[in-house]
Amino acid sequence: MKSRARGARLLLLLLVLGEAASALGTACPAGPGCRYTPDWPSLDSRPLPGWFDEAKFGVFLHWGVFSVPAWGSEWFWWHWKGERRPPYERFMSDNYPPGFSYADFGPQFTTRFFHPDSWADLFQAAGAKYVVLTTKHHEGYTNWPSPVSWNWNSQDVGPHRDLVGELGAAIRKRNIRYGLYHSLLEWFHPLYLLDKKNGFKTQHFVSAKTMPELYDLVNRYKPDLIWSDGDWESPDTYWNSTYFLSWLYNDSPVKDEVVVNDRWGQNCSCHHGGYYNCQDKFKPKTLPDHKWEMCSTVDKHSWGYRRDMELVQTVSLGGNYLLNIGPTKDGLIVPIFQERLLAVGKWLSINGEAIYASKPWRVQLEKNTTFVWYTSKGSTVYAIFLDWPEKGILSLKSPITTSATQIMMLGIQKDLKWSTDPVKGLLISLPQLLPSALPVEFAWTVKLTGVK
Ligand SMILES: *[C@@H]1O[C@H](CO)[C@@H](O)[C@H](O)[C@H]1NC(C)=O
Ligand SMILES: *[C@@H]1O[C@H](CO)[C@@H](O)[C@H](O)[C@H]1NC(C)=O
Ligand SMILES: *[C@@H]1O[C@H](CO)[C@@H](O)[C@H](O)[C@H]1NC(C)=O
Repeated sequence: MKSRARGARLLLLLLVLGEAASALGTACPAGPGCRYTPDWPSLDSRPLPGWFDEAKFGVFLHWGVFSVPAWGSEWFWWHWKGERRPPYERFMSDNYPPGFSYADFGPQFTTRFFHPDSWADLFQAAGAKYVVLTTKHHEGYTNWPSPVSWNWNSQDVGPHRDLVGELGAAIRKRNIRYGLYHSLLEWFHPLYLLDKKNGFKTQHFVSAKTMPELYDLVNRYKPDLIWSDGDWESPDTYWNSTYFLSWLYNDSPVKDEVVVNDRWGQNCSCHHGGYYNCQDKFKPKTLPDHKWEMCSTVDKHSWGYRRDMELVQTVSLGGNYLLNIGPTKDGLIVPIFQERLLAVGKWLSINGEAIYASKPWRVQLEKNTTFVWYTSKGSTVYAIFLDWPEKGILSLKSPITTSATQIMMLGIQKDLKWSTDPVKGLLISLPQLLPSALPVEFAWTVKLTGVK
């Protein structure tokens, strides 16, 4: 490969282009003052602001009028009126008077006990570095006083409050980053249905609703993150996404720090935008070459072990972990969600050093008697193992020791004894403690310095 010569020629070309473009501002990401153009090659070249990769763990809040029936999921309206699924029709006829419409749920979304500061305290105790709130789900109801969501917003109907603004203020006081979820489409908006009937050749809905609301959200709340969704029925050219993003990156009040995901039009997901969500529940098996985020929901499965494993695996594979919870219509976070968030926070209070601001190591996973996931920070390597090995000896194949090697366990301020074996690799004698004296109940971290 004549890469040096090619590099020099490319540099020359860039200089020439830069010279020609300087009157208009250079193309990005060439340097300060550069401008992104409304196309994917340019937008995709933007470096991801550093805070996002360092954050690793966030909390996702699904909250809206769908929290009133609180049955099925946030897709309630669609399953009931879009698909007419029998269990949903039955649920309605069993529990509500005839003729009760989805809009009638609106006034019952009271958020009466919503105290943004107690929510924010909880998220801080959970160790979350960012919080993402649904500002508007596919039902179209806005959790802020949107001027273009007439009589279907949190100021006019239900809480009579600006939920997006109030939570944002509380979150920011605690130095947590604030992200806004926003659905491009609205299932039943008449203008959306009109555009759909026109095969998305018209953009009435985009110019009357989607774009005004996206610009309003950015200018009012200055989000650190926009979690876009509801893109899949039509191409990004219909949504005008690349125009919005070029404004966001060039001229918006958050142009330097804002991070976006990849749901900006049909087939964009996993290919274009900022970091990748790909499809729901995306979970790569090997290290992807692009920053990604895994969304997971609190569910019935056994909690701590599985959750720690998911978080550890995600971070080891270069991802961020966004844990979803659904507050109630009256603004409470039920005890089981609180407990689970606090359990993550407790684990992170000991092991966070191996998670926050870590980088994937050259090896991600080692499987022997137990799973071992690796992360790293400079020359320090963290090995996180999920089951306590028999006889208290952890064997690791991948780290290569040197004369400077030191090994300890996070949460215990003491060097551990170790030896190497030509066949078994590095053998680490774990501390001999009663289970109750161990720093955490599962997923322990061994910190190795001076290894290769
Ligand atoms: C798309 O964005 C461009 C540039 O901002 C604007 O001129 C145009 O009106 C937008 N179209 C719609 C439908 O919002
Ligand atoms: C998205 O991909 C599907 C399947 O490959 C294709 O049928 C469709 O036309 C694509 N849409 C766009 C907007 O590229
Ligand atoms: C697995 O670990 C044990 C010790 O814990 C060791 O004896 C064995 O050789 C290891 N096996 C492999 C395939 O690394």
